[in-house]
Amino acid sequence: MSLRRLPGLLTEGYAFISRTCDNVGTDAFRVHAFGRPVTFLRGADASRLFYGGQGRFTRAGAVPTFVQHLLQDEGSVQGLDSAAHRHRKAMFRALLTSSDAGRIVDLFAEDFARAARYWAEQDRIALHSQAELLLTRTALRWAGVPLAGTSVRHRARELSAMVDWIGLVGPGNWAARLLRRRTEAWAAGLVSAVRAGELSPPGRSALAVIAGFRDDHGDLLTEEVAAVELINVLRPIVAVSRFVTFAAVALMTHPHWRETFAQGTEADLQPFVHEVRRYYPFFPAVPGRTTEPFTWQGAEFAAGELVVLDLYGTNHHRSLWELPEAFAPERFRDWDGDPHTLIPQGGGDSVTDHRCPGEPMTIALMKEAVRLLTRSVTYTVPVQDLSVPLNRGPALPREGVLLAGVQPVG
Ligand code: HEM
Repeated sequence: MSLRRLPGLLTEGYAFISRTCDNVGTDAFRVHAFGRPVTFLRGADASRLFYGGQGRFTRAGAVPTFVQHLLQDEGSVQGLDSAAHRHRKAMFRALLTSSDAGRIVDLFAEDFARAARYWAEQDRIALHSQAELLLTRTALRWAGVPLAGTSVRHRARELSAMVDWIGLVGPGNWAARLLRRRTEAWAAGLVSAVRAGELSPPGRSALAVIAGFRDDHGDLLTEEVAAVELINVLRPIVAVSRFVTFAAVALMTHPHWRETFAQGTEADLQPFVHEVRRYYPFFPAVPGRTTEPFTWQGAEFAAGELVVLDLYGTNHHRSLWELPEAFAPERFRDWDGDPHTLIPQGGGDSVTDHRCPGEPMTIALMKEAVRLLTRSVTYTVPVQDLSVPLNRGPALPREGVLLAGVQPVG
């Protein structure tokens, strides 16, 4: 396959890898771009290869710099391999899956109630930008960042810009990178204040843990890297706003689910949240670079080759999902939990590989959002375009999902 297909990446967006796979009749194809081969893969077997825990892939040098500088940046957990990765990852897992981590759901419910009072004074609101704001407040409080002297609106703008603008190359991306530098300076200031004893966040908060974390050689992280890792928990919590927005779209377009959850029936809440994460587009794909030569399904890979795993395409693969383009939470009622089929946040094992350590928190926040949206507020849905254009990442309905006449219940 030649470079001629690559512009498809820009025009077809999320569907590019899958359409090309369908056209060539396989789950893998290779193009030559900029003088080197790039292999695109989709499906559960591909996820098993990519996240097989055999250390065959590294993220180092795999993500284009313009994306890396927005999302993970140098020195972050995603750029580490082997023992150093496992050591740093253990910190994230402890932070994100401990019983303390569950506190975020209560903070989110409080912030939602506070926001709902403001929404009640407006004719209409755009849910996505409001969810970004309220999750920024929740993320800061959960992480132990004092709200006094912090502009939540300002932080929300900077943290969401990193995700909003990854799809852009050029001025939009530069502007987002500039905002990122400012956020890093702000986060480094917090780390430095904690280390100097000028700020005392709760002992098990993300700010305290990251500021005091020692790497596998026993050294504190540099201020810059600690700042990057603090942002690495704040930014994705704010990004959960996209899934909250998609959950609202699903409730609007499939109102029987809204009625079910409004009545307090929760048996299908987890299936519903899984289906939102499967069906709606978020991160399209993950790139990795091979660390060693190997053969997979007859294809030869040399060391240092770029490989891209299609997350969206795997979540919509016909051989894994019956009627993949239908929104059907029922499919998850008796799902076997295969870690290589539902992979919106990466595949495999989050302890040994790069799978997202924030998945349990994402699911918990989304479940609470569905409860709150169906039981704690009433609203009407103005006429609007709820379709999700797939040709630009990250995708969202054009108008950000409008709610009118929001009223808190009770
Ligand atoms: C908003 C929904 C989320 C999505 C769609 C998402 C998606 C992803 C993806 C695709 C990866 C990369 C996997 C790879 O490199 O193979 C990742 C990694 C990561 N995510 Fe998430 N994530 C989300 C929420 C979260 C949350 C809430 C947190 C923390 C509060 C978080 C923290 C991280 C970290 C630290 C990594 C790097 C892990 C590593 O390299 O080992 N994410 N996420």
